[in-house]
This record gives sequence, C-alpha cells and structure tokens, in this order.
Amino acid sequence: MRLISILSITSSFLIRSAATARSDLKHPTPTGLFERRSTWVHPGVMISQDQIDYFKSEVAASSSPWLAAYDQLLDQTAVANATYTPSPVPTVVCGSYSIPDVGCSAEREDSLAAYANALAWIVSEEQSYADRAIDIMNSWSSTVLTHNDSNAPIQSGWVGSIWARTGELIRYSDAGWRTSEIDDFEVMLRTAYMPLVIGGSTYNGNWELVMTEAAMFMGVFLENSTAYNTAMELFEARVPAYIYLTSDGSLPVYPRGISTEAALISYWEGQSSFEASGMAQETCRDLEHTGYGLASIAHVSEMSRIQGTDLYQTSIGTRLQAALEFHTQFLEGIDVPSWLCSGTLDLTLLSTTEIGFNAFATRMDYNNLTYTEEWTVSPYGIASWVKYVNKICFLVSQHS
Ligand SMILES: *[C@@H]1O[C@H](CO)[C@@H](O)[C@H](O)[C@H]1NC(C)=O
Ligand SMILES: *[C@@H]1O[C@H](CO)[C@@H](O)[C@H](O)[C@H]1NC(C)=O
Ligand SMILES: *[C@@H]1O[C@H](CO)[C@@H](O)[C@H](O)[C@H]1NC(C)=O
Ligand SMILES: *[C@@H]1O[C@H](CO)[C@@H](O)[C@H](O)[C@H]1NC(C)=O
Repeated sequence: MRLISILSITSSFLIRSAATARSDLKHPTPTGLFERRSTWVHPGVMISQDQIDYFKSEVAASSSPWLAAYDQLLDQTAVANATYTPSPVPTVVCGSYSIPDVGCSAEREDSLAAYANALAWIVSEEQSYADRAIDIMNSWSSTVLTHNDSNAPIQSGWVGSIWARTGELIRYSDAGWRTSEIDDFEVMLRTAYMPLVIGGSTYNGNWELVMTEAAMFMGVFLENSTAYNTAMELFEARVPAYIYLTSDGSLPVYPRGISTEAALISYWEGQSSFEASGMAQETCRDLEHTGYGLASIAHVSEMSRIQGTDLYQTSIGTRLQAALEFHTQFLEGIDVPSWLCSGTLDLTLLSTTEIGFNAFATRMDYNNLTYTEEWTVSPYGIASWVKYVNKICFLVSQHS
C-alpha cells in the first residue's frame, strides 16, 4: 500500500496548471462534453423532484418493490432510533485507511444518518425525520472547521457528497430548516470541505472521481458555477484516464501528472497489456476501490442529467457501461484471463453498480448489461432503481 501525503490546495493547483500548460500530445484534449453550468435545478443532486414524486406514488400504492425498499429504509437504525445523537468534532483527523480516526467514522455515519432521515422525510412527510436530519446537519455545521491527515481529501469527498445530497432534499421540501441554519451549513461546505476537494488529486483515480463528485454536488447546493465547472473539467479528463477502451489504442489515456509509458504502467499496477474495453486503472489493485470510482462516475452522471447534460449518452457513458460489464463478468464466474493482472483479481466489488445499471438497463432500455444485471439484481431480488434509494445509505459507510 502506497502511503500518500496530503496535497495542499495550492500545490494541487500548481500540478494541474503545469500539466495543462505542457503541450504533451499524450494528454487528452477536451472532448467537448463539458458544458459550463450557471443555472440550477433543485433538488438536483442525484434525486430530482420527479423521482421523489414517482417513488412516493409507488409507495402510496403499496407497489412492489418500492414499498419493500422503503420499509427497509425505515428499519435502518439511524432512522428507526429516535435517540440518534451525532458526534461532531472541530477537526476531523483521518489517516490512511482512517487510522487515526478522530471523527472520521462518526462523520460518515452521521452524514449517512442525516441522508437516510431526509429520504424517509421526503417519502413519508413525517416531520420527525426532517427534524432529525436537520439536527444532524446543524450539529456538524456548528462544530466542524476542517479535515487533516492523509485521508482528509477522500474523506471530505465522501462526506461532502452526502451532505450536499441531504441538504438539497431538506432545503427544497419545506422541512423547516431555518435560513440562518442553511447559511451556517453553506459556510461549512465552503470552508471545511470544498477546499479539500476542489483541486482534485493525482493519486489513484477513485480519489479524484469521489472528490470531483463532492465538489460538483456542493457546487449545486451552493450555486457556485466556478466550483462546479472546475470540478467537471477535472472529472471529464479523469474518466477516460480511469477506464480503458480498445479504441484508445495499445495504452490507456494518460492522466495529468503522468508522462512516460513506464509511469503509466506503474500507475495501472504494472499492467502493460490492454486487450479489452472496460478495464480500469485500479482493476489490478482491487475491485473495491475500482467500484468507488465507478460509483462516482454514475453519481456525477445522475446529477448532471438532472442539471441538463446527460453524460450517460456520451463517451463517459460508453466507458462506464464497458467497465460495469468488464468487472462483473469475473464476479459471475468468468475466469480471469492470464493477460489480466497476472490472472488474479481481488473480487471485492461492493454495491456500487446499482445506479449505473439502472440508468442503462431501466431508463435507457439497454439489454446488453448481462453480467451487471446478474451481479446487481439477483443477490437482492429487487430492481435496482429501488436500491438506489435503499442501498445508497450503505455506500459511504463501506468506504473506509
Ligand atoms: C440509539 O442511539 C443511541 C445514541 O446514538 C445509542 O446509544 C443506542 O444504542 C441506539 N439504540 C439502538 C437500538 O440502536
Ligand atoms: C490535525 O489536527 C489536530 C487538531 O488540531 C492536530 O492535533 C494534529 O496534529 C493534526 N494532524 C496533522 C497530521 O496535521
Ligand atoms: C466558489 O468556489 C470556488 C472554489 O472553491 C471559490 O474559490 C469561490 O470563492 C466560490 N465562490 C463563492 C461566491 O463562494
Ligand atoms: C449496448 O446496447 C446499446 C443500445 O442498443 C448500444 O448503444 C451500446 O453500444 C451497446 N453496448 C455495447 C458494449 O455493445
């Protein structure tokens, strides 16, 4: 395991401008997918008002599988337990793999608890759920000042994303969140989270994907087009450098910060032969971290679609679809070929496929995600759209 050090916001901006300034033909030129955004849809971070209304009407009609997923949400301890108490700290100290852990696990659990209660609120309209989500958000925004140690950027990414999702649902639903409390929450996002994620990262690709997800989600909540556009630009360059397509040629796309073939192969964990579309930069590391990256690509695509640009319909979607099928085939029993990661994979993919699968298979009606479907749907026996609301509550707690 490589140890990483925190990139200060300044140094990561310097690295970025150096890479952009270099006229290195190996680095990708902008694909033109990126649309600068200055108008906003709310609630607009992963779940739109239409989706809320649809989910509510299915629950009201006791439709399967929506009702079962909703009941499972209500059974989560954080939702069912009326005495849930958040544990905020002024400085969240997160080392590599969250050691030390000063408030890291608590921050992830509390933000997820707030999110789960916000979801329960928008479906049930029970005020007690809204009150608990608001209480958890307020308790952190009146306490936390910053994050430090080596995992601070990724931690800020995981949690910043969940805060923004929760804030959107509560703010735009007449939940009783006071203006002064919203102001404090905005200050918290601007000062304790955004500076840690806005510069991106040249570490393993899941970092930049998670961090840009958070920066864009907070950008929507804060209506900050500078933050949104800066992060989208990094994201748009990162995705082709994270997922390989055979049409890229004999080597993957170079990410910023990497300029030689040897460095590129080392970045891909020593993989030097590229024979199938969908392989990812962290495939030979393990599928757990690869899944974090793929989940963030789906999350950003989901958000961007609501905001007006459907990335699933672009080459970003092509790469995501390829990666979902490529990785899930090995979980469904296909032998790992000898050219790939010396024939051995760490098959630790977590529940990170639902949102992308749902977009392609349910919404876009693709019938060619066979392995993704087996992996995503069969273990749980419910359609993925619902796990979107249900399983989502587990995602960040699995990030440790
Ligand atoms: C409810 O939450 C409180 C405070 O966080 C905790 O001490 C208690 O164990 C929880 N109860 C259950 C049943 O989970
Ligand atoms: C993080 O902040 C805490 C509290 O201010 C401090 O005690 C600790 O030394 C800091 N750690 C690092 C690695 O900067
Ligand atoms: C928007 O975000 C950027 C990047 O974090 C920041 O520099 C800028 O001050 C923010 N703008 C406002 C109006 O807060
Ligand atoms: C999957 O099906 C869709 C819709 O027919 C098509 O656009 C896409 O290219 C297919 N993907 C692959 C990898 O064949």
